[in-house]
Amino acid sequence: MKKNIKYFILFFLLSALNLIACKKEMQHESIISPNGKIKLLIQIQNGNIQYSLTSENEIVIKPSKLGFRLKNMDDLGTNMKMIKAYQKSVNETWEQIWGERRLVENRYNELVVEFQEHNKDKRKLMLFFRVFDDGLAFRYHIPKQKNMSDLTILEELTQYNLATVKEAWWISAYKTNFYEGLYQNTPLSQMDTVSTPLTLEMENGKFVAIHEANLTNYAAQNLYFKENGLHVDLTPMSTGEKVFAKAGMYSPWQTVTIAGKAGDLITSYMSLNLNDPNQIKDISWLKTGKYIGIWWSMHKEIHTWGQGEKHGATTENAKKYIDFAAENGFTGVLIEGWNYGWDGDWVANGHLFNFLKPYPDFDIEEITKYAAAKNIQLIGHHETGGATENYERQMEDAFAFYQKLGVSVVKTGYVTSKLDKKELHSSQYGINHYRKVIETAAKYHIIIDNHEPAMPTGLCRTFPNLMTQEGVRGQEYDAWSADGGNPPQHTVIVPFTRGLAGSMDFTFGTFDFSNPAKPNTRVQTTIAKQLALYVVIYSPLQMASDLPENYLGKKEFDFIKIVPTNWFETRILDAKIGDFIVTARKDRNSEEWYLGAITDENTRELNINLDFLSKEIKYKAKIYKDGAKADWKTNPTDFEYIEKEVSANDILNIQLAKGGGQAIRFVPIP
Ligand code: NOJ
Repeated sequence: MKKNIKYFILFFLLSALNLIACKKEMQHESIISPNGKIKLLIQIQNGNIQYSLTSENEIVIKPSKLGFRLKNMDDLGTNMKMIKAYQKSVNETWEQIWGERRLVENRYNELVVEFQEHNKDKRKLMLFFRVFDDGLAFRYHIPKQKNMSDLTILEELTQYNLATVKEAWWISAYKTNFYEGLYQNTPLSQMDTVSTPLTLEMENGKFVAIHEANLTNYAAQNLYFKENGLHVDLTPMSTGEKVFAKAGMYSPWQTVTIAGKAGDLITSYMSLNLNDPNQIKDISWLKTGKYIGIWWSMHKEIHTWGQGEKHGATTENAKKYIDFAAENGFTGVLIEGWNYGWDGDWVANGHLFNFLKPYPDFDIEEITKYAAAKNIQLIGHHETGGATENYERQMEDAFAFYQKLGVSVVKTGYVTSKLDKKELHSSQYGINHYRKVIETAAKYHIIIDNHEPAMPTGLCRTFPNLMTQEGVRGQEYDAWSADGGNPPQHTVIVPFTRGLAGSMDFTFGTFDFSNPAKPNTRVQTTIAKQLALYVVIYSPLQMASDLPENYLGKKEFDFIKIVPTNWFETRILDAKIGDFIVTARKDRNSEEWYLGAITDENTRELNINLDFLSKEIKYKAKIYKDGAKADWKTNPTDFEYIEKEVSANDILNIQLAKGGGQAIRFVPIP
């Protein structure tokens, strides 16, 4: 008996010790990237969940808090213990229907940690962490549980306590409408509350970008700097609350991309990997292409959207554009201002837009028939003026109407500072509206080009009919902006900032640089840079923005006609954010490579190693370059075309004029 008691005590003590050891052990968890370079540590510190991150043994993120502030409840994420943790590894390759590369590698190690509160409520919270070779992603999951059903998120407590940041590239989240701003480059301490992607250069020479992926039924993340760290500020609803959710919810993935070179931020596909695979079964209609439009003429005030003498969307004008598109290998013609609603102040009166009723001088049946006969598509337009309720009421019928007419691309627009005069574009309301549009459009086999969108987060993987979006200060600013247009350095920043979120409908290809209606504005590039932008800034739908007559007889136009919109592979050959970028892309359907090099307001000489070309092939390089006297300000049209035989062993010398560029097509020599 005595012996039994002894054994019992011993057993009890051992179990208790074991439990303590386990508990202690469970107070931190770690995981490393498949290549072993990036390491994540999760720990509980005074009840708070904290994570930290290193890359090649250097700190990227110091211990930073995670959790939620909830309405009428205690914060979730404090007072926690770890109760379970498990890991898995994924290594797969998937194919994109369209994009900057065909095959995407998805390789990561995942750590899932389940936390529970110590106190009587014992609420649970789960976190999913994925560590890739190029960064970290994490998302919250509030599991279904007792005493928790509807939740109102007042704020995320997520922090990014970054190691020393040298400088940041950012745009203000609330002072910029639909991300149409010029990026600022400052230390973190001078940063406003900014939208993401936020791009950072670290003191150790590395680059970091913070953004999010798969933003679904949630508010967009914005960031502000306080007490040495970045804090999340979700875009609020008009009530001030951030997200209305239910237990069982998953947050978007927060992403921290880490790169040794700035260009590697661009060729990271982490965000696409974090979105669900394609949900569209029949993909035959998901075709990329190039388009022209009755569009620039409105921005130049030659035509009007509304009715009247200068009305642009007329049957006659449409046919002229369709003829030009067919003669020059375009796939589509965008026509804006064809439907009722444009007369008067359409921004204030978005509710008057009618998406089924064409103006009397626009015979939409006749035009779509005429276009189809020439293998051209009308690109439809739904400007909503931000009146989302009006749009949602008509949406099914409007897409069905377009589908009946053979229209399979629609550009949507939301010009207003608040949707339905109430909600911000990047609020949970906006996010849900945009999703509804994409899903409804998919039902009718319609591709979306979303202007005034919420920032893309890789959803185009799940819904590849969401081909392109604006959400950037595009070329239209060169026609009317009060500050004179986009300065030359804008396009050498945008690929590293907004560009990290996904494709951009930037609408370059302007050959006539001025606008008599707004003499202070102009396109601030050389003509060769206009061409190079087709390679540098990706979109599966690319516009040639200028009026057809400005392309006639121009050798430069050949490049726009031939440049592909779907790629096998992309490489950033050389770059410095804000100074220059050199991008090479291989065509999806041939052995051809294309190169685009662009600079800011300074001239630049670059020596580019052509070792990306196939070693077995010799190429004819068709070079569209700045002329010897080219200068965006004084001589933007000075241009030269040369041909050269090159191979993978060559170093190519590239000279760029002020605000200039160079576009090259490498054609294999049989
Ligand atoms: C702003 C868009 O960015 C532009 O492309 C369009 O022409 C106007 N809104 C009118 O919808």
